[in-house]
Amino acid sequence: MRIGVLVSGGGTNLEALLTAIDEGRVKSGRVVTVVSNKAGAGALPRAARRGINCRVISREEFGEAAEGEILAHMKAKKVELVVLAGFTAILGEALLKAYPRRLINIHPSLLPAFCGCGYYGIRVHEAALRRGVKITGATVHFVNEIVDGGEIILQKAVPVLRGDTAKTLQRRVMEKAEWVILPKAVELICSGKIK
Ligand code: GRF
Repeated sequence: MRIGVLVSGGGTNLEALLTAIDEGRVKSGRVVTVVSNKAGAGALPRAARRGINCRVISREEFGEAAEGEILAHMKAKKVELVVLAGFTAILGEALLKAYPRRLINIHPSLLPAFCGCGYYGIRVHEAALRRGVKITGATVHFVNEIVDGGEIILQKAVPVLRGDTAKTLQRRVMEKAEWVILPKAVELICSGKIK
């Protein structure tokens, strides 16, 4: 399956997916393009280093037409599965309609905890610490019109440890959960095990 990855940030989830492909843990898909909505995203050099097609499609440059441009690019690259790997913009109808059950996201909590508008990045972990949960984790889910509301594909739990800061917790959730379940979910979909 041809995979397109949408990113905005550092790209560690992208890296985990590319490593899993290199190591044969993801066998049924390959990343054909990486699109960022931020010009300085650390994810871009990670893709470029591997010779993967990269593009920046930002709101600053394209305004309201940005999503249409992303869709046109994905279609031009014959992308079959779109992976949101730390993509901070909220998608509208166009991509959702074009990729029904072929659009997935990774969220750094055990959904439905700590989700929806405003819960992204470090804020999710700050909220988890404020609430005092003892277990958190990550979720891979299909994207639908509700923010973080699509069907859950995989989840992995991670303990909150005494003395954790939002940063130490974020790191643990990434290493122990996100980087594990994102490639797994991609393989499940690409190999046809999830319809
Ligand atoms: C991750 O925590 C992911 O769950 C969230 O944004 C962060 C992206 O990190 N959606 P990276 O760009 O993959 O390093």
